[in-house]
Amino acid sequence: MIAIGSDHGGFELKEEIKKYLLQKGYEVKDFGVDSPTSVDYPDIAKTTCASIVSGECEKGILVCGTGIGISISANKIHGIRAALCGDCYSAKMAKEHNNANVLALGGRVIGPNLALEIVEAWLNAEFQGGRHQNRIEKIHMLEC
Ligand code: RB5
Repeated sequence: MIAIGSDHGGFELKEEIKKYLLQKGYEVKDFGVDSPTSVDYPDIAKTTCASIVSGECEKGILVCGTGIGISISANKIHGIRAALCGDCYSAKMAKEHNNANVLALGGRVIGPNLALEIVEAWLNAEFQGGRHQNRIEKIHMLEC
């Protein structure tokens, strides 16, 4: 199950990504927003990421205007490794090296076609483990 959430700045792109994932046969749980009404992105990061930390969802995609506020918020939550990506190489590396369990995107920064390619690159990549696992453990030791 893929959790997905956005604020108003990411609403349109979130809807595009959700439609795409459903068409591809993925199971998606949408944590809103359901309209472009203004909300605070930390609230969406909190509910979306809670579903990942609890194990209800395996991974998540978060979108705000730039992807910055929502990724900063997500990375405050213990157990979350959110990667803000604007290109496919970074998205692939975010999974292979960082085992990012959240992909963050900027709805006002990138267009839908690039966004969907980034989503694909992240979903299709595999964590490489080994020395990267040790580094991830060190990341989580920074949590306080
Ligand atoms: C909302 O206007 C905007 O600030 C938000 O979507 C995001 O870009 C923040 O980082």
